[in-house]
Amino acid sequence: MIYTVSLQGIKSCQLKGFFVGWPNPPQPKTHLKLLKSSHRVVLALDETTNQVVGFITAISDGVLSAYIPLLEVLPEYQNQGVGAQLVKIMLQELNDIYMIDLLCDEHLQSYYAKLGMMKSHGMLIRNFAKQSGN
Ligand SMILES: CC(C)(COP(=O)(O)OP(=O)(O)OC[C@H]1O[C@@H](n2cnc3c(N)ncnc32)[C@H](O)[C@@H]1OP(=O)(O)O)[C@@H](O)C(=O)NCCC(=O)NCCS
Repeated sequence: MIYTVSLQGIKSCQLKGFFVGWPNPPQPKTHLKLLKSSHRVVLALDETTNQVVGFITAISDGVLSAYIPLLEVLPEYQNQGVGAQLVKIMLQELNDIYMIDLLCDEHLQSYYAKLGMMKSHGMLIRNFAKQSGN
């Protein structure tokens, strides 16, 4: 597995199969667009297929705060430590930032706790008409 913080040379055709379970998922081109618009990204690439098999994004004001909106590992690559590695690299990338926040379901709180994060409370709005990003 190759981990990279660069999008250089990454094409939308390498971004297949993500947003599992989303009723109205972003297409690979939109996925690439959101990666390019992020403050930091970390990708996991399977060097044998040259496909992206996991990714994490952060958006930020670049001064005090960052938010991690997306982390996903393709189902066939899960439970092999890929997600943990993506989080670890992203937290290193953000180590000059005061506040690093993310929202997750309760069942994932212990996962992030093992990676050094603490439980908190959050609020959200979801505009499902815009879920695909188009
Ligand atoms: C959550 C996710 C990124 C974890 O990635 P991964 O590469 O499978 O995780 P790792 O191999 O690094 O870690 C595996 C550990 O996470 C736990 N885990 C994985 N998915 C979990 C889930 N849905 N709920 C609770 N624990 C989970 C495993 O039990 C395992 O625990 P262990 O270390 O005690 O054995 C991956 O399951 C995924 O993409 N899920 C769908 C998208 C998602 O939920 N993203 C998070 C948004 S906040």
